[in-house]
Amino acid sequence: MTTTLITNISELTTVDPERRVLHEAAVVIEDEQIAWVGPAFHAPAADERVDVGDRAMLPGWVDSHTHLVFAGDRSAEFEARMAGKAYAAGGINVTTEATRTADDAELSGLVRSRVNEAVAGGTTFLETKTGYGLEVDEEARHARLAAAEVDVVTFLGAHLVPKGIDPDAYLASVTGPMLQAALPYVQWADVFCETGAFTEEQSRTVLQACAEAGLGLRVHGNQLGQGPGVKLAAEMGAASVDHLNYLSDDDVELLASTWESWDATTASGAPGTVATCLPACDLSTRQPLADGRRLLDAGVEIALASNCNPGTSYTSSMNFNVSTAVLQMHLSLAEALRAATLGGAAALRAQDTVGSVEVGKRADLHVLDAPAAIHLAYRPGMPLTHAVWRRGQRRL
Ligand code: NIG
Repeated sequence: MTTTLITNISELTTVDPERRVLHEAAVVIEDEQIAWVGPAFHAPAADERVDVGDRAMLPGWVDSHTHLVFAGDRSAEFEARMAGKAYAAGGINVTTEATRTADDAELSGLVRSRVNEAVAGGTTFLETKTGYGLEVDEEARHARLAAAEVDVVTFLGAHLVPKGIDPDAYLASVTGPMLQAALPYVQWADVFCETGAFTEEQSRTVLQACAEAGLGLRVHGNQLGQGPGVKLAAEMGAASVDHLNYLSDDDVELLASTWESWDATTASGAPGTVATCLPACDLSTRQPLADGRRLLDAGVEIALASNCNPGTSYTSSMNFNVSTAVLQMHLSLAEALRAATLGGAAALRAQDTVGSVEVGKRADLHVLDAPAAIHLAYRPGMPLTHAVWRRGQRRL
């Protein structure tokens, strides 16, 4: 058992139930966990001591929505979009074809380098999805390779009906052999419920089968237009509905109603359906930014995630997503920090383990090269990640 005292923290944003922001603070790590948090002058002795030089500390980012298992390049598609072409779900096929040609060593190397990139940017807990395999063995392979690299894996066989395949036959595969093949490696299931991908009825069928198999549920919804995604997510008790660029008043009310037995102050009680906003994706697809402000004001717990993927958001930078949330989505710094940490944790039902700097939680810590966290928005785009601990291990 090794203990490490991290001291000389100018500002510590804990995201704890009291939402404490401590000054001149210290944290003690014992193996993989946080053992002590408080004022530096009261800190206990430890085996090792790290002086972070009067810098700000936050919980590590929790990135609850990524698609890291892919090969190939879609920068030309992005360039065409910047010239005015609309995003369409069909681009997923391009990545599926490229990914099928990558062998296990190449594909896991790609996933690992993306995870390392995310960690170097302060992300310490990561979800990733399958969804570029789109046939039984490929989906299972992607799930297996992902499980070796990230904290939690989501089965997204229902990302798109592959070109030339009958939709009913594909649905039968997703809810049958494909699900069974991926099951040993995944904890969650997701569905792209959108025009051009899966209808409400198809999505419900997928979610029901996945729930029966014991998986937690999440939904890609309301990304490209008004649609049934939010309604379906709430109806099915999904932990999260992600994207949310087009919301009706009913959608917002419905999401808020799922949070009635949750105490937002202490982050306790029964969590509802988290509204996961993906600002980098919104910018990269030229969609309106998800209205996180409206959702928060209605009492919905929100998360911020990177949605790192080759089609709509090729960045894992949570620093960027947090800056954008403050600068363009009108979230306060405290709201954005919570959404990118405890909000993401709630979206993965991991809020008792990660997402805040509290005794007993995983030692996932992010030190900024700045005296205060507001620099994330004040100095957008600057390389502000100075040090990272993940599971108590120094990673940067
Ligand atoms: O979350 N919306 C669906 N899936 C991804 C995009 C996938 C792609 O275009 O490759 C997303 O944006």
